Amino acid sequence: MSDIRKCDFLVIGTGISGLLFSLKAAKYGRVHLLTKAVLSDSATSKAQGGIAAAISEEDSIQSHIEDTIRVGAGLCHRDVVENIIRQGPAVVKELMDLGVDFCENEECDELDLGMEGGHSHRRVLHVKDHTGADIEKALIAKVEAESNIEIFEHHMAVNLYASNARVMGAYVLDINTRTIDRFIAKITVLATGGAGRVFLYTSNPDISTGDGIAMAYRAGATITNLEFIQFHPTILFHPQIRSFLISEALRGEGAVLLGPNRERFMDKYHKDAELAPRDIVARAIDNELKQTGADHVFLDISFKDADFIRERFPAIYETCLQAGVDITKEPIPVVPAVHYVCGGVKTDINGRTDVPSLYAIGETAGTGFHGANRLASNSLLEGAVIAHNAAMDAAKEIKESIDLVEMPPWDPGEATDTDEYVVISHLWDEVRRLMVNYVGIVRTNKRLIRARNRIGFIAKEIEEFYWDFVITPDLVELRNIATVAELIIKMARMRKESRGAHYNRDYPDQLEAPVDTVLKKGLLAIHDT
Ligand code: SIN
Repeated sequence: MSDIRKCDFLVIGTGISGLLFSLKAAKYGRVHLLTKAVLSDSATSKAQGGIAAAISEEDSIQSHIEDTIRVGAGLCHRDVVENIIRQGPAVVKELMDLGVDFCENEECDELDLGMEGGHSHRRVLHVKDHTGADIEKALIAKVEAESNIEIFEHHMAVNLYASNARVMGAYVLDINTRTIDRFIAKITVLATGGAGRVFLYTSNPDISTGDGIAMAYRAGATITNLEFIQFHPTILFHPQIRSFLISEALRGEGAVLLGPNRERFMDKYHKDAELAPRDIVARAIDNELKQTGADHVFLDISFKDADFIRERFPAIYETCLQAGVDITKEPIPVVPAVHYVCGGVKTDINGRTDVPSLYAIGETAGTGFHGANRLASNSLLEGAVIAHNAAMDAAKEIKESIDLVEMPPWDPGEATDTDEYVVISHLWDEVRRLMVNYVGIVRTNKRLIRARNRIGFIAKEIEEFYWDFVITPDLVELRNIATVAELIIKMARMRKESRGAHYNRDYPDQLEAPVDTVLKKGLLAIHDT
């Protein structure tokens, strides 16, 4: 039997933005909080570096604003950047009040501030190298204690539901019972994180399949700047340990990149060498790999004091040790991999999309904050600030009388159980390999055209397959990664220049007047066609 559930706020996703939004919205109405996995499964939990905020006396809000805009390569929306960065110090205080124990300096008289690429000052607050995990833990404890929030783990949103041109909830797959439940809500919030799994190599957790972006697009929301896929320069290169990030904070503490010949190379590419903006470091590594034919480079911090390394980077030290690398003694093999979607579902500063009653927050949203390239450790900050802005905005909206509508049952049509799982796994692999090979760090027109042609066929095949078989989590995610892949390719083809995280060898220069790319599908629909 499928369930029908009604609430004021339906929140999909449990990273920093989904959890904080839920906590704040719970003061104004009933919240249903969904995750397709367990509460702690989110990109936030994997964030190592920390959260950027201008809190030291040597630093200033203005300097943080200018760094964000410079790294964003002409596409940051200044009003959004100002709004978010001005709220940075208050966010830090709020997180501390919620129980996050940021590290202090050696004298224990001030918070310890890390350095990362693109920043002109030390301003990254951290809990050693497991900042995100500690933030997530603190927020989960509060959410679990809040009686106005009901948590649904292993519940995967499949499609948004619209009535009278507003989104009024979602069809949700209960992964344990395999039924499609109806979640009806006055406000629906997409906080599903990013889309790293659209690519074969990523630092993202398995849940990052672009679900929010794909659902919003199908519901008629505008998507923006998806071509700006940020690669993190240093992911551990290891056959078994996948997706493990080696934080930029190591470079902030002096770690250097070495080529296959163990020589430094970054000063050939940028005056700030290892601390250049991420797009530049990732492209430099890509270039070194292509020139030498090697499959990885190295990151070396072994010349620093061993006790300092173990104390400051305990999680990285332990994981590398398991991988057979003692980082206090030898360099770490690393490669770039997909890390962050700088664009997303287009929203205003309050997380509002252009579809009534639908909000997007966190990495799912394209607010204009990151522009063409995100400044390191700015994403937890954006997630927290937009969650706050959105909760205040949505609280006002539910005061207006929005009637909860009835939602028709999910129509499975003629769908039968598939015995064709091999098709799903084959297509998963094909999409992700195609994206990494043709839509990677350095793009060309030819490769983008090839990618467009292939993804067109694949998407059509998935669509036919989708309606013939009973829905499974793999099938829902496959459809979403294919949709997001198509959108990335379309937007990459729309941009006739190289800027920030989007580099096309056929258009190596920047156009004089920067513009955002936007894409929008037709009308709101219950079941997309
Ligand atoms: C890192 O620790 O290098 C990741 C920080 C970020 O992506 O903002």
